[in-house]
Amino acid sequence: MSSLTFADIFSGIGGFRLSLEQAGLKCLYSCEANESCRQVYFENFGDYPDGDISEVDFSQISDVNVVTAGFPCQPFSICGKRRGFSDERGTIFFYLCEFLKQKQPEVIILENVKHLLHVAKGSNFKVILNTLQSLGYLVTYKLLNAKDFGLPQNRERVFIVGSKYKKFDFSKLQKIEPVPNLKDFLDNEENFEYLSPDEYTLIENPKKQDSGLIFVGYRNKSIWKTGIRPNTEHLSRVHRQPNRIYSVDGVHPTLPSQESSGRFFIYLPEKDRVRKLTLKECYKIMGFPKEFKKSSVIGDAYRQIGNSVATTVVRELIREVINQKIFSSSSRYQPDAVVKQPLPPVQLTIPGL
Ligand SMILES: C[S@@+](CC[C@H](N)C(=O)[O-])C[C@H]1O[C@@H](n2cnc3c(N)ncnc32)[C@H](O)[C@@H]1O
Repeated sequence: MSSLTFADIFSGIGGFRLSLEQAGLKCLYSCEANESCRQVYFENFGDYPDGDISEVDFSQISDVNVVTAGFPCQPFSICGKRRGFSDERGTIFFYLCEFLKQKQPEVIILENVKHLLHVAKGSNFKVILNTLQSLGYLVTYKLLNAKDFGLPQNRERVFIVGSKYKKFDFSKLQKIEPVPNLKDFLDNEENFEYLSPDEYTLIENPKKQDSGLIFVGYRNKSIWKTGIRPNTEHLSRVHRQPNRIYSVDGVHPTLPSQESSGRFFIYLPEKDRVRKLTLKECYKIMGFPKEFKKSSVIGDAYRQIGNSVATTVVRELIREVINQKIFSSSSRYQPDAVVKQPLPPVQLTIPGL
């Protein structure tokens, strides 16, 4: 029997592809607008993705069983301006829908930032779910955190799984316990970039938060201290995220896509020292293998890993997608039952199409 196939839309550097290939699926198509990502993807997978999705002729692409897509998230991200569909990039989602309409994959796995649930008081997310339903998918979604899937990173993302035949059940995903500590993922031999003690301030009595983060201090950089009580400087609104320091006895905060110089500083209690997390370590806490080839442009390499998907979460998702037999009888895995539902006509509004 032939293996299940997939298309990797908005592929970035291939976080989805790594995990789906490990599960034995075969990639038949990829698409990514950014040239630097495309180059990295080619070096790792031997395929050069198509470019801007708005210029792709979908009729030339083979049908696939699965579509994966971490659709562009800047318009939805807390770091962006949260304009959602009023931002042109938000409407790129509808090109993905046009792809689904033409190719009819049985299963879709989509990923986006947590704030997608809240922009425009949740109405954008409703539009997304309704649109996918109108394309014939039984849709379900859940916020998943990388730290629950074997990575020492507090990274929450919303995952949507749609299936034509049987609704996916997120409750069956197997979390990995206990949550690992960042120190278990650190490299030993490197020319580490340590800070000198006068470059940072440690707070008294740091505590592990529910998220698993242990905020221990901040870098002494352009912090407005006037009128601020001692030990609360880090709460100051001018105290920006890149200055924060976290202990390696906890997890690391989300690696963001906007940070192109890798200003992630970690505290090593055993050495009582602060150093920068290395680029290699950033890829490791996203679940990328050490042989994965990165962009030689350091800023691109940081942006690309921050934009990527936590691969262990996808690995568990695809394992469970296969386990739950949500594919049709013509595919390799039989569904338990075929859910038939009347499909309303699809009205997609795609600017310029
Ligand atoms: C959130 S990232 C997805 C990252 C990917 N999941 C990974 O593992 O690296 C979204 C990607 O969509 C790409 N993108 C944005 N607009 C696009 C378009 N019009 N056509 C194709 N790709 C686009 C961006 O360059 C970015 O790499």
